[in-house]
Amino acid sequence: MTNVARKVTVIGAGNVGATCAFVLAERKIGEVVLLDIFEGFAKGKALDMSQGGRILNYDGRISGTKDYSDIADSDVIVVTSGFPRQPGMTREDLIGKNADIVSQVGLGIKEFAPEAVIVMVTNPLDLMTYHMQKTTGFPHHRVVGQAGILDSARMTHFIAEAIGCSNEDVQAMVLGGHGDTMVPLPRYTTVNGIPVTQLLAEEEISSICDRTANGGGEIVKLLEKGSAFYAPGSAAAIMAESILFDRRRVLPCSTYLSGQYGMEDIYIGVPVVLGRNGVERIIELELEGHELESLQSSGTFYKQQLNDILGY
Ligand code: NAI
Ligand code: 2OP
Repeated sequence: MTNVARKVTVIGAGNVGATCAFVLAERKIGEVVLLDIFEGFAKGKALDMSQGGRILNYDGRISGTKDYSDIADSDVIVVTSGFPRQPGMTREDLIGKNADIVSQVGLGIKEFAPEAVIVMVTNPLDLMTYHMQKTTGFPHHRVVGQAGILDSARMTHFIAEAIGCSNEDVQAMVLGGHGDTMVPLPRYTTVNGIPVTQLLAEEEISSICDRTANGGGEIVKLLEKGSAFYAPGSAAAIMAESILFDRRRVLPCSTYLSGQYGMEDIYIGVPVVLGRNGVERIIELELEGHELESLQSSGTFYKQQLNDILGY
């Protein structure tokens, strides 16, 4: 990888993919390629975004394609291809259909961009990230999933709303799988350094944790068709940026564990340092008994799904 001519491919030009590409373009990260099985869809969105550059003052190259040879030399590939959930569905209901899509996309990446870092977004996130690593055979640190940034941002928003303060001053931490078993951590949540427990009552914090865990479902219900995309697409873009510019941001990401937090051979959300090589370091927080138990039981849930449904 070089320091110039950075290139990001976003696979899936739907709601999340297009949002991610747009955020990347606006942040002037370099070249953006949008790939979708529907070529016109990808090309049309790329052209629209390119024209928007005159208005918002960005001028990087943005192109659309269905051809995998166009992803060559990508530094980062964000994978958003796959079905979103509809009302009444859990993320896990998407496993069968989306695993096939991830297999197909993974083989394309392996052939044409074997040095890229992959940021997974397709749901069910932690399982699809595991499946992508297995499909490509890339080192674990080069396949990482987006979920924790989104889930923490949701928690942050609810806390800021409850306190009546700027969300810029709230730092929330949500670990675990991207689903009902996620683990919001009030003990690691602060408002400009002040523990949130000093600013909100226990019941308020507990209801914010519940709303965070159901944050995706709340939006699915409201939209009635499809799932959230502005915050998810932005979160994936922030991960791509941290990797591309070797910013080494500390972010909760779905990461391969090999013994950390007492779990192994699983992808699950924990804090990491995200840099040029993908996951540069896994940070092991000191967790209290019930916190670690919740994280491990989230892991056990996904481990079972990997075995039972994906056959790993
Ligand atoms: P969408 O339906 O708007 O877009 C999906 C795109 O993938 C479509 O344009 C479709 O043509 C494309 N696609 C399908 N199969 C493909 C293939 N084999 N190769 C290339 N492109 C293909 O869906 P949306 O809302 O963008 O969601 C995408 C995925 O992201 C879903 O699985 C959704 O559940 C997940 N998601 C994950 C989040 C997270 O935090 N990890 C948050 C929000 C969504
Ligand atoms: C979300 O959390 C559905 O994973 C998606 O919005």
